[in-house]
Amino acid sequence: MLKILMVAAELAPFAKEGGLADAVGSLTKALSLRGHGIRAVIPLYGRIDRGAWRLRPAGPPLPVPMGRLGHLACTVFEGRLPGTGVPVSFVDYDPFYGRRGIYQEDGEGYPDNGERFVLLSRAALEIVRRDGWRPDIVHVHDWHTAAVPVLLNTLYRDDGTLSAAASVLTLHNLLQQGVFDKGLMEILGVGWEHFQLRGLEFFDRVNLLKGGIYHATRINTVSPTYAREILQPEFAYGIEGVIRDRASDLLGILNGADYGEWDPETDRFIAAAYSAADLRGKALCKKDLQGFLGLPEDPAVPLAGVVSRLVRQKGIDLVADALPRILDLGVQVALVGSGEPWAHTFFEGLARERPDRFACRIGYDEALAHRIIAGADFFLMPSRFEPCGLTQMYAMRYGTLPIVRATGGLRDTVENYDDGTLSGTGFTFDDATADALLDTIRRALRIWGSRPEAVAGLIRRAMAKRFTWEAAARRYEDLYGEAIERSPEGQGR
Ligand code: ADP
Ligand code: GLC
Repeated sequence: MLKILMVAAELAPFAKEGGLADAVGSLTKALSLRGHGIRAVIPLYGRIDRGAWRLRPAGPPLPVPMGRLGHLACTVFEGRLPGTGVPVSFVDYDPFYGRRGIYQEDGEGYPDNGERFVLLSRAALEIVRRDGWRPDIVHVHDWHTAAVPVLLNTLYRDDGTLSAAASVLTLHNLLQQGVFDKGLMEILGVGWEHFQLRGLEFFDRVNLLKGGIYHATRINTVSPTYAREILQPEFAYGIEGVIRDRASDLLGILNGADYGEWDPETDRFIAAAYSAADLRGKALCKKDLQGFLGLPEDPAVPLAGVVSRLVRQKGIDLVADALPRILDLGVQVALVGSGEPWAHTFFEGLARERPDRFACRIGYDEALAHRIIAGADFFLMPSRFEPCGLTQMYAMRYGTLPIVRATGGLRDTVENYDDGTLSGTGFTFDDATADALLDTIRRALRIWGSRPEAVAGLIRRAMAKRFTWEAAARRYEDLYGEAIERSPEGQGR
């Protein structure tokens, strides 16, 4: 049994922008079910309802040292991760977190995000210190908490509570690295000697993720293929050299899917339950979705779904480019998502022009996400890069065949249909182009329209696939074990 401190900017169900929240929440739960002593720390964002989650202040205000800002007095609220006994500490510092967004508002990132997440990183360590709770592992995620390994190796190196802790940094996405003016060094307080090539310095600015990658005991990505891809400039956004420096400590551990939330047999959001043995409910879900979105209710028309952040990473521009031609193939498309303003304008405009074939809802809508994933025949995800991706796993569980670009976790989870061996769980393609997407949709439609047994086999295999958090948690246990061997009490970080 290990003592694990999880620190992250997002944790479902309290605070979620994307898959990061799901991944941190599900992993925490899986580790706790396996008997580990685990605690989590996140900020108390303005959108988190203290009453609904029954959060209670724990102890007097905690003064968190923030370099030239002095000590910031944070209140720590305590709650439990639903469905588990895991204690979650919420760092309350209203001037930083009492806002509408997690990272941004109206498309603009908060200018003080550096300070906001350094505070989270520092506060997490101060909380366990105050409690005298000695973690074996401090597990952090993405740039927001990447300062933690740096702090552990410097200011907390000789700390009674934290000196023995090993750190693991999980890379969920390398696009955002937390790059700020170098003045942030004076707040981080670790000393300018760490503002260096093999440390926090990046083109004369602070790069928190880079610092974390150098300082963490072990690092990992959320799929094996992404672990290989980020050795290349095209995937690493300027820090490929950093990744290569630590390549021998880099592992890919595939995320799981939360089948407690995503199961067509028990899903509370969908019109009718169904299973692989009896797919009649899926036909009802399709009819329900078509009706709800105002599309013609025709079971014979193929329906493709998109549930996504509307950003370049997800290949949303490729979807936009191909969409008029996709509709001309006689396909209906249902989309829910939010992201870049051009995408909102484009998709809403097209929905007005082609209401017979295309429907979209701009925004975040969990119920509709479930209804699309259940009701569609195909699920489109032509990502340019995809560290893991969760929605394609959900789609498979619902017998909704994924049409994906073979990159990152998509490559590791979706097996391309092979006509010769009648194997596969979806359709994959290589080129990040609208034409490649379109060709693959054509290929899928040919089979869909003429080969019912082949389609039934695809659906059966897709629905039988399981990507469990239990399996992922076991792999993290191994990684923690290796990190502990290397930690200061082993051979020094
Ligand atoms: P990423 O984290 O890169 O956005 P993932 O596939 O890992 O991609 O996770 C996305 C998560 O966010 C999934 O749980 C998905 O259902 C959810 N999601 C994305 N967009 C929306 C939306 N517009 N409405 C509801 N849920 C959404
Ligand atoms: C990031 C990635 C996504 C991954 C998620 C959870 O948001 O973009 O691919 O599934 O993190 O690890």
